Amino acid sequence: MKNWKVRKAVVAREDLPEEHRLAQTLSWPHLVALGVGAIVGTGILTLIGVGAGKAGPAVILSFAIAGGICACAALAYAEVATMIPASGSAYTYSYVVFGELIAWMIGVALILEYTLVVSAVAVGWSGYAAGFLSSIGMGLPDALIQGPELGGVINLPAIFIIFVVGGLLIAGTRESATLNAILVVIKLAALALFIAVALPVFDASHFEPFMPYGFPRSGPSGSEVGVMAAAAIIFFAFYGFDAIATAAEEAKNPSRDLAIGIVGSMVVCVIIYMLVAAAAIGAVAYTDFADSAEPLALILRDIGQPWAARVLGASAVIALPTVILAFFYGQSRIFFTVARDGLLPASLARVSSRGTPVRITIFTAIVTSIFAGLIPLASIAALANAGTLAAFVAVCAAMLVLRRREPDRERKFRAPAATLVATVGILGCIYLFISLPNRTQLFFFAAQAIGIVLYFIYGHGAAARARAAQTA
Ligand code: ALA
Repeated sequence: MKNWKVRKAVVAREDLPEEHRLAQTLSWPHLVALGVGAIVGTGILTLIGVGAGKAGPAVILSFAIAGGICACAALAYAEVATMIPASGSAYTYSYVVFGELIAWMIGVALILEYTLVVSAVAVGWSGYAAGFLSSIGMGLPDALIQGPELGGVINLPAIFIIFVVGGLLIAGTRESATLNAILVVIKLAALALFIAVALPVFDASHFEPFMPYGFPRSGPSGSEVGVMAAAAIIFFAFYGFDAIATAAEEAKNPSRDLAIGIVGSMVVCVIIYMLVAAAAIGAVAYTDFADSAEPLALILRDIGQPWAARVLGASAVIALPTVILAFFYGQSRIFFTVARDGLLPASLARVSSRGTPVRITIFTAIVTSIFAGLIPLASIAALANAGTLAAFVAVCAAMLVLRRREPDRERKFRAPAATLVATVGILGCIYLFISLPNRTQLFFFAAQAIGIVLYFIYGHGAAARARAAQTA
């Protein structure tokens, strides 16, 4: 209890000096748009192909499993985020509930998640942008659209889009969120077009055999297949609602707006994905689009609708930056919060006169473009998932602990069947984690090991000094 008060003092808005407060400019429609903008992206547009290659038509089942687990985490997020409405998402919740060291580990996981999602979606954007440009006779050389592992040199379009989005964020949060809402409509219209054009050629025989690669992870290391291996990758398509939680400090009415934003955007996306996946599998044999860099556009071309493929490609190019924007936003706010708590240099946690953290934004742009420029999409996405899964476990656990520790504290949003939801969330995320490629798990633990060493060398003492300065 005593610790809670001390830590609450660290995160409460009114206790922060003016230059460390973010402007409160967002309301729930902005947050639902931010959520849908963050959730619908490279997962459904590109990784659906990777998932189909691992699971066959049963990728639909992978969507359902990943979506169900994410829904549990979303409910836990909504409850905890409305109890602790401060920037920093799972990092802040872990700080409050479990203390500094666990918070630092979750901070590392979140930084992996947000950094790599920005990079992964930038690479996905680059795939659709390159496809679109070549469909209008303006193709870019291969060496400049993919990194060395795939035979190229650098992915320049991916780096380009990261810096464009970074510039938007520096220009101001409110303006970016409004533009984001317009782009979300374009993205949803493109998916609706896909469903409308693909469903009429639905052929149930494409669902046979339904589960050609079995259910659990199997096969030699590095070639994991099956419904769960696909779910572990497809999981990428579902998260993003947690980006809303990182906007908590900038919401006008955090308790109500966050619950609507998180739960609402999650439900909308699960419904859309099931429809898109069913339409895609029904339209062509899954093997046709399994490894494509732009599977949905490819399907539309295969069924003789090149115009629709071009519209979808152009919409992806215009609208995918909403995903980059939401995660970029979350990333800069997490860096910001960690720096404000003293675990990163405090000079990074300064906001400009427009109320946006400029230095952090530029720092984030540089780091994310290094990954996006050099590494293939599937590897980036898998590692992003590992970080996200760890953060989700922490949030579900935080909800359980707070229910026990402070049962009577007011909850603006109460997750239904909390014990069941949190248990399914925790076990489901662990199962997805062990279904990820071995290489990804290794990278994740290596990042955590480096994080723990840094914490004991630097973070622990710096955080104590920052806390002393803020509570003095
Ligand atoms: N859910 C987001 C996407 O699929 C990360 O792009």
